[in-house]
Amino acid sequence: MLTFLILPQLALGVSLQRTSRSATVPQGWVPNACTLIICASDKGDPRREMGIPGTQDLSGPAEPLAISAPNRDTGGTGTRGEIHFPELELLKAEMRELQKQMEVFKATLTKTQKVLLIPNGVIVGEKIFKTDGSRGDFHAANASCTRIGGNLALPRDAAENSAFQQIVAWHNRRAVLGISYTTTQRTFVDLNGHSVGFFSWAPGEPNNVGYEKCVEMHPDGKWHDRICELDWLIICEF
Ligand SMILES: *[C@@H]1O[C@H](CO)[C@@H](O)[C@H](O)[C@H]1NC(C)=O
Repeated sequence: MLTFLILPQLALGVSLQRTSRSATVPQGWVPNACTLIICASDKGDPRREMGIPGTQDLSGPAEPLAISAPNRDTGGTGTRGEIHFPELELLKAEMRELQKQMEVFKATLTKTQKVLLIPNGVIVGEKIFKTDGSRGDFHAANASCTRIGGNLALPRDAAENSAFQQIVAWHNRRAVLGISYTTTQRTFVDLNGHSVGFFSWAPGEPNNVGYEKCVEMHPDGKWHDRICELDWLIICEF
């Protein structure tokens, strides 16, 4: 620190002395001596003190590691200045490939294998009713059944109704059916919009047609129309 303070002053002093004595700059005299001294006396960098050869510009940031270095030469698909990481692109491609394989896997599962993925099922004819014990309103129930490759369950005949009832009775909790009232058709239709041929209404039901658009089954196997925003046991069919 002391060097930095003293040297410029010395140089300035010499410079002033020289200029006052003679107007001409002598041979070998550097007018900008002050600047030179300051720049030369960089003692802060040990590499310079030690005189390590071949150290060009070591002050800049180190070259990034290859694994994180954006490859601007090969990742040229980007727009708007996006930086492309080759490893990330590779991972994305692998993810896409895995997703494809999952789709194939799901498609090749037989109905029995599907049903084994969730316990608590009842088989009736070609159909299997299952619940994982989860609950939700009509829309949540529909969404959760389609997500696992099934449909919100709807008994289509007396045998299916009693199979469905077994699950409701077992859980002792009302379950929503895959049926809803449509004002355009003024009737109850299944999730494909088709009219339904089988009903198991409790006496006096449906009692609020047009207002109560969803249907639930009670543990006795009988149906009641209800509003769609209730918390039901979700039973899916496969
Ligand atoms: C049931 O869920 C499927 C898939 O999420 C959706 O396309 C369909 O519109 C839903 N149906 C109803 C009646 O909410």
